Amino acid sequence: MKQRYLPALTLALLCSLAVLAGCGKKDSNPAATAANTEYVVGADGAYAPFASENEQKELVGFDIDIMKAVADKAGLKIRIVNTPFDGLFNALAQGDRDILISTITINDQRRQTMDFSEPYFVAKQLIVLPSSSKVAKFEDLKALKIGVQSATTADEAAQNLVGKNSPSVKRFESMPLAFQELEGGGVDAVIGDNGVVTNFVKNNPGKSFRIVNDPTFPKEYYGIAVKKGNAELLAKLNHGLEQIKADGTQDRIYKKYFADEKL
Ligand code: ARG
Repeated sequence: MKQRYLPALTLALLCSLAVLAGCGKKDSNPAATAANTEYVVGADGAYAPFASENEQKELVGFDIDIMKAVADKAGLKIRIVNTPFDGLFNALAQGDRDILISTITINDQRRQTMDFSEPYFVAKQLIVLPSSSKVAKFEDLKALKIGVQSATTADEAAQNLVGKNSPSVKRFESMPLAFQELEGGGVDAVIGDNGVVTNFVKNNPGKSFRIVNDPTFPKEYYGIAVKKGNAELLAKLNHGLEQIKADGTQDRIYKKYFADEKL
């Protein structure tokens, strides 16, 4: 009985040995393999000052500088591709992007579908409205039209205030579109991350907008995302982040964009 299986067993053994040998060969120079891998990074380029396109159509901004510095320290070759925010998470899940850096707030819901690096930025929501508005706090928005970028933490906050799918929340694909609607009077206020809201007000000095900083908004932490389970890449990114925090690179990049930002 046993002997009848011997040839098959030997064959199976030989096959697995061959596979192992093959693998060994491929990995015999892991450094070269890693160096040749180009990681595709997704970033929403309609989000100044974190990521926007310059005249040469290159992405520039805080997130872009952070990503390049991290990749540099981690020895990762990267290509950053402008990817609208609403398509980012799907692109990661599908394998079209290996890494996302896009002011993505780390939260439990997102942790179910992606893994996050250590935080690289602390943020919070701010409300921007016309200076003439009577609004003093978040609660005051209850009876008003609120503009948000869809599927963001601002969207979630607005829905928590006025109820899921309430028609008083207007969702936009990008922050510039939400701001445009505010300028046109189609919404009474826009909620968004502090960095992007402050940047908008600073760049529209003649238009008389005002910011409300409501203490009930929690602090948010931005993380770089990888596909769930990609521990190897995540470890490299965390290693790079650790280094840019330790050697002052991160502070330097922060000061370049947010010299006078207060939370
Ligand atoms: N931090 C917020 C969030 O994670 C807003 C992100 C929007 N970012 C962007 N690049 N459009 O929901």
